[in-house]
Amino acid sequence: MSHTQKAYQIIFLLTIVALAIVIAGKFRHSEAATSTPVWITATGDLRGEIKPCGCSADGDMGGLLRRATYLEQLRQAKPSTLYLDLGNNFPPPTEQGRLKVELIQTTLQKLKPLSILIGPNELLYEHSLLDQKLPYLLTNTNASWPVKSFHIEKLAGKQIGMWGYLSPEQIYQNKNDKPLVYPVNDDVLAAWKQQLQKHQLDYAILLFRGNEQELEKFENSQLFDMIVTGNNNDDELNQVLEMKTTTGTFSAVPTKGQGALEGQIHFSGKPVHFEVQWLLDKYQDHPNILPLFSTYNQAVKELFFTNLDRMEQHQQDSPYAGEATCKECHQAAYTTWSQSRHARAFSTLQKINKHFDLECLQCHVVGLNQKGFMSPELTPNLLNVQCENCHGSAKAHIGDPKKIQTSQKPAIQACTSCHKGSHSPSFDLSKYWPKIVHQ
Ligand code: HEC
Ligand code: HEC
Ligand code: HEC
Ligand code: HEC
Repeated sequence: MSHTQKAYQIIFLLTIVALAIVIAGKFRHSEAATSTPVWITATGDLRGEIKPCGCSADGDMGGLLRRATYLEQLRQAKPSTLYLDLGNNFPPPTEQGRLKVELIQTTLQKLKPLSILIGPNELLYEHSLLDQKLPYLLTNTNASWPVKSFHIEKLAGKQIGMWGYLSPEQIYQNKNDKPLVYPVNDDVLAAWKQQLQKHQLDYAILLFRGNEQELEKFENSQLFDMIVTGNNNDDELNQVLEMKTTTGTFSAVPTKGQGALEGQIHFSGKPVHFEVQWLLDKYQDHPNILPLFSTYNQAVKELFFTNLDRMEQHQQDSPYAGEATCKECHQAAYTTWSQSRHARAFSTLQKINKHFDLECLQCHVVGLNQKGFMSPELTPNLLNVQCENCHGSAKAHIGDPKKIQTSQKPAIQACTSCHKGSHSPSFDLSKYWPKIVHQ
């Protein structure tokens, strides 16, 4: 090759490189000009807390009715929003729990999350209860549950992938059976890497629920652009909103559905800065969801009467006497009590038509499910929070007050069986007891 030929070749190559740079620059420029910002919001860990109970203003947060309004406003302001849910939404399995599961799932259908991670609470019920219309997600499973193993969403010209991990530690598995959910390890990560590569994603998200060691494995694998985690904490008064590994910090959704994690996705690789939107009463109850709650309340009422039939058949002699019987011998204590809010706890429920809800009644009447309150008609003497809620059942005491104590336990210990969590966040014995002190 002559010198001139070589020079021409070099010039030719340089031109191509220069052109490529210009084109790339143009392309990038035009992409930046047209690309819409993509937002993400994540909820989860409802744990059956479908609506704030209304027991206290300080604890008045969360619920599906407000979430619907929050999502609607967010989607109007930021049309390219990915809505994900970290699951663990179902309550503990009871008859009323089943009614809630139905309400939760029909509501989620309307809220339209792109993916819902399967959580331990979803697995407390039979798997046929998982609504197939909902985008349940779990990647590390062998089970034939109605769930997707991953999901890919095209949004604003981007391919966004969602994978889901639930730690085997968090569910019950029969040791003799093939595990339904398997732990993360190098083989799993290698297999996931292949899957992820096949789909040529612009962004990969992991919905995660597990411990720090498992989280660190995913972090070190660098397979995901974002990891958002479910909450391992059950205490809504002490929200834990992050999980730490030895090298990083990851955002966790608020527990008991009290808020949502919101942030903007950066396709450059810059991490998402999440902020919590607490679902306070500035978000109204969404009118499209309210009818679902009416249906639920009606079903809860029917359950109340079914239970009542059962209770009537099985309830033998109640050990409770009711406040009226205490009055004649404990006049002073009675007067103090009758002026306290405890003496109106049932009418509080009645005013909001929640006096058929067993979940509410347990702290607003005497001895529910303990041979006490059944219904206003059958047990009119056991409405409200009474002497016997704190002192213990006292029918025996009336027969021989000098000999028979009402209870072995000091009454002062009873407070926190009701004044707990979001039902009474500002409870402080030294402030509350003086308001009802008596002898
Ligand atoms: C774990 C016990 C517990 C349960 C369950 C419970 N409550 Fe309460 N509720 C309380 C306590 C304690 C207070 C008083 C809180 C305070 O003043 O600190 C209260 C107060 C209230 C009040 C009065 C609020 C006010 O300021 O006037 C309403 C209304 C209420 N509850 C409704 C409900 C409803 C509805 C449910 C069921 C969804 C429910 N409660 C379930 C314990 C409970
Ligand atoms: C017939 C009268 C009488 C009636 C009715 C009665 N008490 Fe008493 N109670 C007494 C007497 C007398 C004592 C004191 C016993 C002693 O000092 O040995 C007492 C003591 C108590 C005490 C303190 C000691 C203990 O047993 O823990 C409590 C609390 C109490 N009563 C609650 C109640 C409640 C609640 C009722 C209603 C369900 C009630 N009493 C009904 C007469 C009565
Ligand atoms: C909210 C809980 C609560 C309610 C309701 C309540 N008490 Fe008490 N009561 C207490 C506590 C706490 C004490 C302090 C003594 C203790 O630590 O047991 C006390 C003290 C007493 C005493 C003094 C005897 C003693 O053990 O020192 C009597 C008698 C008594 N209560 C009767 C009643 C009667 C009768 C009613 C209903 C009219 C009633 N109480 C309602 C919590 C309650
Ligand atoms: C069986 C459940 C239960 C127990 C036990 C209980 N409470 Fe309550 N308490 C309630 C409910 C429900 C209310 C709200 C009643 C309403 O307003 O309708 C309430 C309200 C109160 C209030 C009024 C709050 C305010 O700001 O005015 C005080 C004070 C209080 N409780 C103190 C106590 C103390 C002290 C104890 C323990 C000695 C105790 N309670 C035990 C259920 C309970």
